[in-house]
Amino acid sequence: GAARPLAGRRVLVTSGPTHEPIDPVRYLANRSSGRQGHAIAEAAARAGAIVTLVSGPVTIPDPPRVTVVRVETAREMLAAVEAALPADIAVFAAAVADWRPEHEAGTKKIKKDGSGPALLPLAENPDILATIARRPSGRPPLVVGFAAETDAVLDHARAKIARKGCDLIVANDVSAEGGVMGGVANAVHLIRPDGAVESWPRLGKDEVARRLVQHLAGMLGG
Ligand code: C5P
Repeated sequence: GAARPLAGRRVLVTSGPTHEPIDPVRYLANRSSGRQGHAIAEAAARAGAIVTLVSGPVTIPDPPRVTVVRVETAREMLAAVEAALPADIAVFAAAVADWRPEHEAGTKKIKKDGSGPALLPLAENPDILATIARRPSGRPPLVVGFAAETDAVLDHARAKIARKGCDLIVANDVSAEGGVMGGVANAVHLIRPDGAVESWPRLGKDEVARRLVQHLAGMLGG
């Protein structure tokens, strides 16, 4: 029915930051709260979907009626996403760390040795969204990415949709003035592969989630 447009559909959502260990007590991370991704998972469940939420470390509660898989690193997130497939819709809302410390964290804390700050060699993390969107088989019919930008939001998002191979990009401005990162409201633009843009007003993250789920149900048809 109209209230449960995703009844019986499988939806996969990633959310939160990732933590990339430097040593046993330190990590690289970012300011993502997980609020937008968690709200999307909750809205999809309300719309009738069977939802798996793969979440990095967050302090917000698990959404009701959602299977939550907790991970720390980008590589763990990719493995959990692959294990959660197949899905009809995959929404990649996590703020995955682009880089991780190249060397495994080990069990010993890195010490100051008096010779000044150490170099921290980094290795590139897998791009989870691009990996799934470009899968030769078992690609979810609807793959959605996010683009958190601080400038030229639409230009960067248009380039991203082509590069990643997804079906929709939800772009938002996370420059400091907007208070989006860690905040409760969001102003998003939906960008399609042909470059067409639909801009929504500033809304609560729960309302963005609700509208996005309705939009995705429409794209999926049914
Ligand atoms: O390239 P950028 O990080 O700006 O792309 C953002 C989009 O890609 C988001 O949907 C994010 O969840 C996804 N992403 C990912 N794995 C990465 C980096 C980004 O899934 N390693």
